[in-house]
Amino acid sequence: MQPWKYSDSLASYTQESAVSKVQWILWGPIAVTLFYPFLLDAFHYLVTDDQGHRASLTLATAVLAALLLLGVFAVPAMGLALACKKSRAPYDDVTTTRARRLALMIVAAPTLYCFIGVNSIMLGSPVSDQSIWVAGWLLLGCVLTFARKAPLPQVKRSMRDLAWLRVAHGVAGVIVLLFVTFHLFNHLFGLISPEAHTAVMEVGRQVYRAPFVEPVLVVALLFQVFSGLRLAWSWSAHSVDAYRIVQIGSGVFLAVFILGHLNAVFIFARTYAGIETGWAFASGDPVGMLHDPWSIRLLPHYAIGVFFVLTHLVSGLRVVLLAHGAPRLRVNNLWWAGAGASALVSLLIMLGMTGTRLG
Ligand code: HEM
Repeated sequence: MQPWKYSDSLASYTQESAVSKVQWILWGPIAVTLFYPFLLDAFHYLVTDDQGHRASLTLATAVLAALLLLGVFAVPAMGLALACKKSRAPYDDVTTTRARRLALMIVAAPTLYCFIGVNSIMLGSPVSDQSIWVAGWLLLGCVLTFARKAPLPQVKRSMRDLAWLRVAHGVAGVIVLLFVTFHLFNHLFGLISPEAHTAVMEVGRQVYRAPFVEPVLVVALLFQVFSGLRLAWSWSAHSVDAYRIVQIGSGVFLAVFILGHLNAVFIFARTYAGIETGWAFASGDPVGMLHDPWSIRLLPHYAIGVFFVLTHLVSGLRVVLLAHGAPRLRVNNLWWAGAGASALVSLLIMLGMTGTRLG
């Protein structure tokens, strides 16, 4: 038997109290995330008049609306910032990993909220989406707080063991890339007019809705979702740099986004409601995304979806270039240029979807 040592006892006391302290600290980000739907609702309320049209804003209400919108986007940004936090102590690995996974879920908050909304319509839920949201996060907080504090079974598998999955994820990503490039190019036509968007979509549909293309696309997307979540699960047990966190965080967001988007297009619109999945479906027309109390949630969902799908691709390119010995500084500068271009494409698409027209 090992002799008792005061230092061991102190270490285990310090470790136990640090772990429980960290678990209680998780409530801070959860509390902020609870406000997400209410920030959206408050923004929608300010920019909409009593008839459901654009409200005329004073300088003060315009500033407040801008701050509320900033608050909406700050929630997933907070998730990314928290996921970047590294463990300072070697003993709180399990807790740090849990906190990082919670942070990654917070990154996906905007698309999770849409997912809840679409499914609660289909299930005919009498409970409001806001109540489901609050209850869900409170439940998650309780589970994380009172979950077993003893170390979990070893989850830290070397990423080298998953090399084959990383390669497969990259290869299937090329199929998805072909579709996404066209799809986003198509959405840019909203800046010209809904009719221009529809005309380009009709051409694209000849290809991506062809009986032998659509199933391949859907299988490739589902493969990306599940392989991506598997990779993110392993990566989230490691302390990594901010570039990698953006890659993992955008991947987690996209996993929920893709499942939700396929659910909305194939199950909700085409099967449940029998709606044509054209411009009006995408933009919430005729009321418009900004002025419809339900569709307002599509604004951050689509804006971040477009930004993340592009930054996720740029992040993949960064990893490949680094693996081939390209100079780190140059590769990182390329990443920043790519992230800037992704933000610009997202902004242009969203301007088109909310009514801005060129000329
Ligand atoms: C502003 C962002 C986006 C909007 C407004 C949007 C909207 C739409 C619409 C309206 C459709 C139905 C198209 C049709 O009926 O032909 C659709 C289909 C689809 N979208 Fe998106 N989308 C967006 C971004 C994305 C992204 C980032 C992805 C991938 C990660 C994606 C993946 C898909 C897929 C796989 C389909 C099904 C295609 C098919 O019919 O076979 N979308 N989207």
